[in-house]
Order: sequence, then C-alpha cells, then structure tokens
Amino acid sequence: MTYAVRYYTKTGNTKRLAEAMARELGVEALPISEPVTEAVDILFLGNSFYAFNIDPEVKKFVGSLDKTKVGKIVNFGSAAMLNSTYNKVKAEADKVGVAMDSKEFHCKGEFKGIHKGRPNDDDIRAAVEFVKQYK
Ligand SMILES: Cc1cc2nc3c(=O)[nH]c(=O)nc-3n(C[C@H](O)[C@H](O)[C@H](O)COP(=O)(O)O)c2cc1C
Repeated sequence: MTYAVRYYTKTGNTKRLAEAMARELGVEALPISEPVTEAVDILFLGNSFYAFNIDPEVKKFVGSLDKTKVGKIVNFGSAAMLNSTYNKVKAEADKVGVAMDSKEFHCKGEFKGIHKGRPNDDDIRAAVEFVKQYK
C-alpha cells in the first residue's frame, strides 16, 4: 500500500492529527499546497468546517486530483459543532471521479474556547488507531 497525507489547517488542529497519522504510516504530512504528484493507493485528507463549509482551497485541491493516480481518499478532521465534512469533500471528489472510503476519522476541535485542548491525546491516539486498519 502506498500513502500520502495532506491537510488544510487554520489553527493547527488538523496538522496535529495529520502528523500523528502520517508518522504511523511512515510518510510525511504535507499541506495541500503540496500537490500529489506520485501514484498513491490512499490519500488521507485532513480538513475542517469553517463557517459551515470546507475551505475553498480544499475544494480546489480535491478538484486537482488525478483519478488515475489516487486510489481513494480517506477523510479526516475535527470541528467544533458539526460532525463531519465527509459529504462536502465527497461532492468535490465525485466531480473528478476519485473514490472516497466510506470510513473516516472525526473528532472535536477547539474553537473559541469550546472543546478546549481538542484534539487531545486521546483523539490523537484514536486517529493513529484509525489508520492502522489501512496498513
Ligand atoms: C474561522 C472559523 C470558522 C469555523 N466554523 C465552524 C463551523 O461552521 N462549524 C464547526 O463545527 N466548526 C467550525 N469551526 C471550528 C473548526 O472546525 C475547528 O476548530 C477545527 O478543529 C479547526 O481545525 P484547524 O485548526 O485545523 O483549522 C470554525 C473555526 C474557524 C477558525
């Protein structure tokens, strides 16, 4: 199995998840400003909700993916209130014909004093456990 890990972050929460997951997979966690140029079986894509949507940069990044190079996307991230960006990311992935795994990792993310410290150590441990199923 070959992997890539990309993330978009505004306040660092997704980066922390991405780095822990990437370490477990033996790859580097990179921001989405780094295009996926190599063929990968699984692209782990970290992203979050901002004002009820995913960031336009995340949409652009997913739109730039080459379905002949990316086997599937595994979505992961955190949010303060909403549960999952899965459907938003899938809407973009569908446009370029890249498959999305039905499983994803999601946890609470600190925002303006809500869910302080999240993702916390338990969240990070859960994210690492989550990626083990793909090894
Ligand atoms: C500008 C901004 C807008 C946000 N809007 C939402 C939102 O609409 N719904 C929600 O559940 N969380 C919202 N959040 C919370 C983030 O999704 C949460 O803090 C997440 O962990 C941020 O990840 P990051 O640190 O990688 O950017 C918002 C956060 C920011 C900074």
